[in-house]
Amino acid sequence: MALFLFLLCSGLFHFAFTSQRLRILYFPKGDTGVAWNESLVNCALENGSPVTLYDQEDADFTSKFLKSELSRQKPLWLGLNKRQRNHTWSDGVNVSFSKSSVNETEGKPICEAIDNNTWTGHNCSEEKYFMCSNGSSYTLITEEKSWCQALKHCRTYYKDLVSILNEIQNDEVIGKGHNTSFWIGLLHDDWKWHDNGCSSYRDWMKKTQSHSIEEEKHCTVYQGAQLNQMSCTRDAKTGFCSKGTMRIIVINKNLTWEGAFDYCQKHHSGPLWIEDEGDQKAVEQWLTHSNVNGSFWIALRQTHVFGFWIWRDSQVCYNNWKDGTVPVPPSSNLCGVIDKTENYKWRDEECLLEHPFLCEEEIVIL
Ligand SMILES: *[C@@H]1O[C@H](CO)[C@@H](O)[C@H](O)[C@H]1NC(C)=O
Ligand SMILES: *[C@@H]1O[C@H](CO)[C@@H](O)[C@H](O)[C@H]1NC(C)=O
Ligand SMILES: *[C@@H]1O[C@H](CO)[C@@H](O)[C@H](O)[C@H]1NC(C)=O
Ligand SMILES: *[C@@H]1O[C@H](CO)[C@@H](O)[C@H](O)[C@H]1NC(C)=O
Ligand SMILES: *[C@@H]1O[C@H](CO)[C@@H](O)[C@H](O)[C@H]1NC(C)=O
Ligand SMILES: *[C@@H]1O[C@H](CO)[C@@H](O)[C@H](O)[C@H]1NC(C)=O
Ligand SMILES: *[C@@H]1O[C@H](CO)[C@@H](O)[C@H](O)[C@H]1NC(C)=O
Ligand SMILES: *[C@@H]1O[C@H](CO)[C@@H](O)[C@H](O)[C@H]1NC(C)=O
Ligand SMILES: *[C@@H]1O[C@H](CO)[C@@H](O)[C@H](O)[C@H]1NC(C)=O
Ligand SMILES: *[C@@H]1O[C@H](CO)[C@@H](O)[C@H](O)[C@H]1NC(C)=O
Repeated sequence: MALFLFLLCSGLFHFAFTSQRLRILYFPKGDTGVAWNESLVNCALENGSPVTLYDQEDADFTSKFLKSELSRQKPLWLGLNKRQRNHTWSDGVNVSFSKSSVNETEGKPICEAIDNNTWTGHNCSEEKYFMCSNGSSYTLITEEKSWCQALKHCRTYYKDLVSILNEIQNDEVIGKGHNTSFWIGLLHDDWKWHDNGCSSYRDWMKKTQSHSIEEEKHCTVYQGAQLNQMSCTRDAKTGFCSKGTMRIIVINKNLTWEGAFDYCQKHHSGPLWIEDEGDQKAVEQWLTHSNVNGSFWIALRQTHVFGFWIWRDSQVCYNNWKDGTVPVPPSSNLCGVIDKTENYKWRDEECLLEHPFLCEEEIVIL
């Protein structure tokens, strides 16, 4: 293990073009108000795409970010647009068999669960048990997760959330469900985020009468911290992009380093680590617009034996230590924080002290 960690910083791993890992928001260069399709092109110039909003915390952060970055609040294109799409299970199979009573509901995603042996539509952010399938074997997972997190779990450890193609499979799935309430692989949504991010976040502005009724409003702008439907060809909207595959999650609970580590493993993809300058910049952007102040645990710790610093499973290569010096034993503490009040520098800290902390959450792609 230790030898392997050493090798990681030797440079071999850094020849490759590094893409942004932690999600960061940006405005496309030279953008002066465009139609939706052009904002896609502008975002793609820097390998990003129009922003997907994931939840209320994300929306709050975004609206703070915009307030501080833009002198004048203007409508910004988001990645959400209305799509005619085939109705498929999460594993891509067509929906040819269904016992769903869900009607396509305008703009509000609904996720299908089996509840008391009956197919029932639920708010996708509810946390439920779920059923994964691995070919023809079905497994009920008795952990409560939102639909998107459940999808992620199934795709990591099995094949996908379960799809049901006929009456026989339906009976089998219901039997395996033991009368609990659990997600299956069906998401009803007539809107879609451009980067296919799995997000059921919708906070639509109340319908306004300002545009003609015939106009087809199949795109979305972020306006006054809400989503507003807009014709895709209306220009003079500004592009707004993001890139990265991991979301930053701030947890405002005071825990020890180990408590924070365990919390992030259990509820998210793991504790946050900083691989390169791009990651550091993303963390700075996020913390600048977060309400929480002070020091935050990150996955940084020192090995007892060799005295070098490691992340979860790799050696620290990119450094951003306070005063530019790596803390060394025997005087150093064994865990590390990032300090919002000290220009986002890292410093060593006694592992048993309690701080808020940062987790990362992998973006689930539909
Ligand atoms: C955007 O759509 C308009 C009209 O639909 C078209 O004229 C224009 O070429 C498109 N732009 C891009 C970049 O696809
Ligand atoms: C629907 O599915 C078919 C075949 O899988 C595919 O060719 C077609 O492009 C899909 N249509 C849409 C709107 O996704
Ligand atoms: C799925 O359904 C669409 C129409 O809803 C059809 O065009 C397509 O061929 C179907 N795909 C498969 C693989 O059956
Ligand atoms: C679904 O919509 C159809 C037509 O709009 C309606 O007849 C039906 O009752 C609706 N079903 C449910 C469960 O709301
Ligand atoms: C389940 O359904 C049965 C019959 O439809 C009903 O009698 C029972 O109360 C339901 N149980 C729950 C927990 O909803
Ligand atoms: C789903 O639940 C979340 C959190 O409880 C809530 O904010 C959201 O408005 C709900 N969505 C719908 C479509 O009811
Ligand atoms: C899923 O099936 C594959 C082979 O089809 C098997 O190797 C794997 O262990 C199974 N995974 C689980 C979690 O059952
Ligand atoms: C599930 O509920 C049905 C009746 O609602 C009952 O007959 C059956 O024994 C229950 N199954 C289990 C595994 O609890
Ligand atoms: C965490 O601890 C600090 C300092 O003791 C305190 O100011 C803060 O309110 C605490 N935060 C929470 C969420 O308990
Ligand atoms: C964090 O610091 C900022 C700026 O110093 C201050 O406005 C804000 O109230 C502080 N937040 C908390 C929760 O202490």
